[in-house]
Amino acid sequence: NELYAVVGHPISHSKSPRIHSLFARQTGEPVEYTAIQAPLDDFAGTVGHFFERGGKGLNVTVPFKEQAWSLADARTPRAQKAGAANTLYLDKDRALVADNTDGVGLVRDLTGNHGVALKHARILVLGAGGAVRGVLGPLLAEKPAALTIANRTLARAEALVELFADEAADTRLSACGFDRAEGPFDVIINGTSASLQGDLPPVSGEIIGPDTVVYDMMYSLHTTTFNQWALDNGGTRVFDGLGMLVEQAAESFWVWRGVMPDTAAVIEELRTD
Ligand code: ATR
Repeated sequence: NELYAVVGHPISHSKSPRIHSLFARQTGEPVEYTAIQAPLDDFAGTVGHFFERGGKGLNVTVPFKEQAWSLADARTPRAQKAGAANTLYLDKDRALVADNTDGVGLVRDLTGNHGVALKHARILVLGAGGAVRGVLGPLLAEKPAALTIANRTLARAEALVELFADEAADTRLSACGFDRAEGPFDVIINGTSASLQGDLPPVSGEIIGPDTVVYDMMYSLHTTTFNQWALDNGGTRVFDGLGMLVEQAAESFWVWRGVMPDTAAVIEELRTD
């Protein structure tokens, strides 16, 4: 079998080994996939050791995505713009390549699995950290009519607007504070880490209309804090990030193996775990 792993800290709760094992079984690919907890002060050493002993590919998660990006010898265009990498592999000259499949994962979950139209949509993205930067390119590639980035720290949202202006030819791209987001929007994506602290971004319930799609990039066993707020404020089409998790994994599997797994079967299996 060929060896793959996810690296993070902590890592014990990662669903990636389960997801990739299901992909391997489904496709018959000779993939063995484990989880590695890297010391906080030696991500680079952990990656080096993994590939020296014959490893084929890594997924990277919190808090190492930016380090993975810096460490690489080369970056795919989508990783370059994202400023972070969740996928690493060696090319034929054994150069370390960084890729980012998170944004594609989000877009495929929204459009493919949930049937959400992003073209011409009015999108509100909450948050302006690494997670949001990672998905803006693929979201803008869908040509929404407008994409508003709302964040606690306005300057970070404004910096992202500047960074992605060149990819927003078909989209009104703008930044605002949480209290200035005026809806209703067609699609609202929570990319803040507020719910990790059981917090909510202080947005008005009026951003949600009867047809608004609400998507929390977070995933947990129970309804996320943000999605519960959305349901309490009239949201009816409310989704969590499980599908995104499976879709980004599938895209990494494709990058490494050249084989695309059937994600619907795996999402269903994980829901009932
Ligand atoms: P990540 O990799 O998860 O994106 P990050 O780069 O630290 O992590 O970004 C976290 C995001 O969640 C930021 O948009 C942050 O807002 P600030 O830019 O103002 O810091 C947002 N965030 C974190 N905790 C929050 C809270 N309690 N309320 C609202 N927004 C929060």
